[in-house]
Amino acid sequence: MKIFVVGDVMLDGELRGRFRENYEGATLCITGQHWRYYPGGAANTAAILRGLGHQVNLFGVVGPDWAAGQLERLLGSIEHRLKALLPITTVKLRAYAEDKLISRVDCEKPIPSDWAVAACYQTGTGEGVPDCVVCSDYAKGVFGRHCQSTLRRIIEWDCPVVVDPGPRDYVDIWDGATVATPNLREAQLMQIGTKHLVVTKSSEGAEVWSGGNCRHISCSPVSDAQIVGAGDAFTAGLAAGLAQGQDIYQAAEFAVKSATDYVSHPRRENYALERD
Ligand SMILES: Nc1ncnc2c1ncn2[C@@H]1O[C@H](COP(=O)(O)OP(=O)(O)OP(=O)(O)O)[C@@H](O)[C@H]1O
Ligand SMILES: [Mg+2]
Repeated sequence: MKIFVVGDVMLDGELRGRFRENYEGATLCITGQHWRYYPGGAANTAAILRGLGHQVNLFGVVGPDWAAGQLERLLGSIEHRLKALLPITTVKLRAYAEDKLISRVDCEKPIPSDWAVAACYQTGTGEGVPDCVVCSDYAKGVFGRHCQSTLRRIIEWDCPVVVDPGPRDYVDIWDGATVATPNLREAQLMQIGTKHLVVTKSSEGAEVWSGGNCRHISCSPVSDAQIVGAGDAFTAGLAAGLAQGQDIYQAAEFAVKSATDYVSHPRRENYALERD
């Protein structure tokens, strides 16, 4: 299937090391031997969809920096259009010691840009509408009022539009899209006007809300789950199911399976195109 992913791309960096004596007054020090890098946010969703065997086009914005170069390398065979319109690429670094997440350091400077949504729309108009569109919103600048009219045209395409909603104080930009995949906390904070709603509930699976009915999709809880990007894996699975013509319940079952598989892999090897 052909699937477009548009949204906030980021670079995830991971260091696995051990505690050391504290240097320079730092609260804690961890020393490891190498960083591992992974596509994050919309780029993670795109990589997972590619891993599921789909033809993916990714649209996003980055900065003019090393992190964008690293993303270019990681995305490899995934068709992508990333434009350097942000002052810096969004980067999330995680440091682990004794296999526990100890510290997370984020670097980001969101600036509204309508480029990615416009590029997605132009590609669909020029090359044909895909089998599904995923909007991966982490509120880093791709989505907002500035792209509302183009987004509306995409939502009107004859294909499912799946929204992974980010934190924002208005969500009417998603009105009429096929489905949104908030987690429980996001669902409590936002009233999203999509046709269906699939609320993810971590190790408890998900709830499908459709036509006033609610159906629970259970999952087998994974202990020691690798939860970074679990939401991306769920959204990717849901989009893959809908792209193949499944109904919302079948697609949600498939999404739970994809997410379970994803969180069961301790280092994202099967999904990320990571190199040392
Ligand atoms: N411990 C776990 N065991 C099994 N499945 C899990 C576990 N944690 C998450 N999942 C799967 O991943 C899906 C998404 O997880 P979650 O509800 O935590 O999303 P999220 O909060 O959006 O995640 P993210 O932080 O990646 O945005 C769940 O619906 C479930 O299918
Ligand atoms: Mg999420």
